[in-house]
Amino acid sequence: MSDEPKQTDPVKSPEAHGSLWGARFDSVMAPEMVELNQSLAVDSCLWREDIRGSKAWARALGRAGVLTQIELDSVINGLQGVTLRIETEGLGQAQEEDIHSVVERMLVEEVGSLGGKLHTGRSRNDQSATGVRLFGMRACDQIREEVLSLIRALQGLALRGLHLPMPGYTHLQQAQPIRAAQWALSHVFAFLRDIDRINAARGAAAVLPLGSGAIAGCPFAVDREALKDELGFQRVSPNSVDAVADRDWICDLLYAGAMIGVHMSRLSEDLVLFSSSGFGFVRLSDGFSTGSSLMPQKRNPDVAELARGKSGRLHGNLVTLLTLLKGLPTGYNRDLQEDKEALFDTCNTLGITVPALAGGIRTADFVAENLESAIDTQLFATDLADYLVKKGIPFRETHGVVGRLVRLAEEKGLSLSELSIDALQNEHEVFEKDVVEVFDWERSAEVRDTIGGTSLRAVQEQLEEVSARLSGIETATE
Ligand code: ARG
Repeated sequence: MSDEPKQTDPVKSPEAHGSLWGARFDSVMAPEMVELNQSLAVDSCLWREDIRGSKAWARALGRAGVLTQIELDSVINGLQGVTLRIETEGLGQAQEEDIHSVVERMLVEEVGSLGGKLHTGRSRNDQSATGVRLFGMRACDQIREEVLSLIRALQGLALRGLHLPMPGYTHLQQAQPIRAAQWALSHVFAFLRDIDRINAARGAAAVLPLGSGAIAGCPFAVDREALKDELGFQRVSPNSVDAVADRDWICDLLYAGAMIGVHMSRLSEDLVLFSSSGFGFVRLSDGFSTGSSLMPQKRNPDVAELARGKSGRLHGNLVTLLTLLKGLPTGYNRDLQEDKEALFDTCNTLGITVPALAGGIRTADFVAENLESAIDTQLFATDLADYLVKKGIPFRETHGVVGRLVRLAEEKGLSLSELSIDALQNEHEVFEKDVVEVFDWERSAEVRDTIGGTSLRAVQEQLEEVSARLSGIETATE
């Protein structure tokens, strides 16, 4: 009747759960528990970080008098042997639950029971927190480089659009003329903010948890400041209970990743729209577009669609981690083992998506004739109102005058610039022949010369700011 899984008979064995902690257990782990318990498939990529942390810990134990110089030399050589072994053979058929246990078993295989001294005063709680932070600091450096290359690609696109007009949109309705460069730069400034967020996440990651033990700190006189320096951290965690459970820095990184996702997705949406035949402002290169197996004319902006699509998981990963952390009781809880999948997925997703989008932008170009012909004279309605303002008429009144002129042009099937001077003067007597000068995108752009505006000077100033920020970031990371 029942199709419930059969109860597995517990196998009696004194150290049944493996050498790490099995002694106080009577039977092996239930088969249904094994896969749930495993994190090796996810955390095996942390083996270099684990060995780096282990070498530093061995030296700290040496300085604290726990290991003799001879023992220390042997453990360091053994860990070097483990490095060579993993580099050449991989992890083999390792059955341990996580990478920390694999490295420790391999060390024992290299140096014998002396390997068992390495875990003195250390817990996998502070050990795994240290390894993942080492990974995180490097990941931040990598993500920063990727986003910088996207920014440089957009900077190049902005330069190609410096002297080209583009309709500026609000509500996806044509609003006012801007330089195409002004549009490209709008995305640059968003990604520059992402660089700040990545830098902040790196700073938050650079806190050393090692030396916190399982919860209460370390009973041996390890020099945590020296450990911090050796491992390239910036600070030492100030509280052992907090240190083993603090994953805030991963939230910071995932939030930065989620925001990069928002920005990539918005840029991509623009590219999808602007490369479509309805707009035709941008052409993506063949290398970043695909055709259709059915419709020969199709040229699809797949790089942008995929980047827009990938951003979903970047947002999901942040929510995963926030949900994981919320409601955990004090100290380390096994739930925290789940922190890595979200982190690694965000790093991998960014590593695949950002360079592809950067390549798409680097090889994209504006289609000048389509941009120019998209500048409908209705885009100058505000300039027309401003023309009257300059003649002393209050703006609210000029808004009404131009509104009526727009309606008149629509009724007559004319564009705004085709209305006769008589028709204009009929609405307001201060219109003069020089009003024709209003209908020129470059003039309209040039008068918007305040900081952040779309005049040539204001846009060049933005480009200079971008260059200065980029060289500042480069020197700071050298
Ligand atoms: N693999 C675990 C993690 O990544 C570390 C193991 C800590 N285990 C424990 N029972 N305290 O979080």
